[in-house]
Amino acid sequence: MHEIAMAERTALCQVDTLEPGEMVRVEVAGEDPLLLINDAGVFRLLDDDCTHAIASLSEGRLDGNILSCPLHGGSFDIRTGKAKSLPCKQALRTHKVIVESGMVYFEG
Ligand code: FES
Repeated sequence: MHEIAMAERTALCQVDTLEPGEMVRVEVAGEDPLLLINDAGVFRLLDDDCTHAIASLSEGRLDGNILSCPLHGGSFDIRTGKAKSLPCKQALRTHKVIVESGMVYFEG
């Protein structure tokens, strides 16, 4: 017998509670902390923990598509999760976001 894994949705926030250019750390049961970003109307979801050391990227700075870590200033491209500057080398994981009926959902 084959088991089919069903994707589960978790509501993260209402679309209009996160303005373009804003980001927030969100918690989803069973997941590492996540970072939800309103990228000029496109919602992006990445790991919130920096891949270099221990820092919450939600406390960092967003300049366009580049997210800088508050601790040592390494940076990531929020569209891909790829590390853009040292000391960060390892990419952030990106996650699937669904926007439906005015709500933003994590689907995993
Ligand atoms: Fe993020 Fe060092 S902890 S750059």
